Amino acid sequence: MNSILCIGAGYVGGPTMAVIADQCPHLRVCVVDINADRISAWNSDSLPIYEPELDEVVKRTRGRNLFFSTDIDGEIRKADIIFVSVNTPTKTFGHGAGMASDLQYWEKTARQILANSDRSKIIVEKSTLPVRTAAAMERILNSGENGIQFQVLSNPEFLAEGTAIQDLINPDRVLIGGQETEQGRNAVQALVDIYANWVADEKILRTNVWSAELSKLAANAFLAQRISSINAISALCEATEADVDEVSRAIGLDSRIGPKFLKASVGFGGSCFKKDILNLVYLCGHYGLKEVADYWHQVVAMNDFQTDRFVDNILKQMFNTVAGKKITLFGFAFKANTGDTRESPAIKVAKNLLTEQACVWVSDPKALNNAKQDLRDLAVHLESDPYVAATGSHAIAVMTEWQTYRTLDYQRIYDSMEKPAFIFDGRNILNHRELFNLGFNVFPIGKPGLTHF
Ligand code: NAD
Ligand code: UGA
Repeated sequence: MNSILCIGAGYVGGPTMAVIADQCPHLRVCVVDINADRISAWNSDSLPIYEPELDEVVKRTRGRNLFFSTDIDGEIRKADIIFVSVNTPTKTFGHGAGMASDLQYWEKTARQILANSDRSKIIVEKSTLPVRTAAAMERILNSGENGIQFQVLSNPEFLAEGTAIQDLINPDRVLIGGQETEQGRNAVQALVDIYANWVADEKILRTNVWSAELSKLAANAFLAQRISSINAISALCEATEADVDEVSRAIGLDSRIGPKFLKASVGFGGSCFKKDILNLVYLCGHYGLKEVADYWHQVVAMNDFQTDRFVDNILKQMFNTVAGKKITLFGFAFKANTGDTRESPAIKVAKNLLTEQACVWVSDPKALNNAKQDLRDLAVHLESDPYVAATGSHAIAVMTEWQTYRTLDYQRIYDSMEKPAFIFDGRNILNHRELFNLGFNVFPIGKPGLTHF
């Protein structure tokens, strides 16, 4: 049985390996991590991340051909193919701080692989990395004195949280970048052979390593750019009484534009869009392409503007003061169907409201544990029941597009709130006219507000 290892048991490593194990019962798949708590959670009934369908896939495979372990050295020795899916956050110190990727975790992993290998192996970059990282890694890996040669492939992951399992089972494409040498081509084929167990060959793209690395950054930049574009238009809609959902539908019907990723919001969150764009901006700067760097940087600047604008509007509509007023956030996850709160716009909204001395309550079906961490040391109330959270509030702000918020009893909520009652719909998921008729003052994104005064 061939042995596959994944270093990094996070949002990517865990689900990706669970699906590989599920689709390839003939392979032994192991996931390791330095975080022992995370590994024991993967081995328990309460997995460390919430992702639809993940529990079922892990239940089917764990102990059969999927294993979670902290024995990194031992598992490296056993493995034929090693995926590296460690975190690659934005650097917070030194050269490139706030922009470049912090590659310390990735480099430590490369050294650990080298120290524990007694035969050639294929190393697969799953983490999102700056272009040409594979070259640096290959230099480290092939610096050993025992003559072992490693092939480094780039196989970026395109799954989105909340739909990770379906994205992995039915990917739009699988991208594999390898060296254009005989060993490189053999390594690419070995990885193709794994995906070919469930992905059609025409969906498996083979490129050179640098194209694969850059395609990942470019894909995230293009996706985020669409959101910033529609959010920019939403600001103009509010100024002109146009309706951003109508504009979005009208332009999305142009088959050259397409309808996806044109939903105006309080801003995009998630661990990757901002980090990957800043990384792209840093790379462009490094190669002397200032105009290109400025162009992409504006996607992040527009996103910051959108979230700030949302809080400014709450303040403005609530008579320029929220001090002492209870404001309840419906949702804290960066998107629906995940408990992940990394870079969630709700964090900034909560903090800005606290700066204005509002009394902030947060409700979310899956993200309250992470919210507790994000807002530690701050006087915020966390409450899973949205009805309890809303009681006595002056305003509700919808931060996450959870299905459950569409179907609440808003009459009951209205009756329990202070008057005048406000709703700021940061996701445009509610029926605004109906809420207005109940008595709410309603402020969507990119549409005229509905007010009773
Ligand atoms: P994560 O923080 O959830 O998981 C990374 C894991 O790596 C952590 O559990 C950490 O303890 C572990 N780790 C760090 N250093 C290690 C080491 N030396 N040895 C063993 N384990 C180590 O991160 P994630 O969200 O899974 O993202 C991982 C990579 O995948 C990032 O580069 C990210 O950009 C990329 N990516 C993420 C997503 C997503 O939806 N989250 C999607 C596509 C790509
Ligand atoms: C994104 C990409 O979609 C994945 O392809 C990629 O693999 C991943 O980043 C990554 O590299 O980490 P993810 O961040 O999990 O996935 O989720 P998205 O569905 O892309 O949503 C990102 C943010 O944009 C969320 O806050 C979401 O609410 C927001 N969004 C999305 C909008 O505001 N409007 C939209 O139309 C779409």
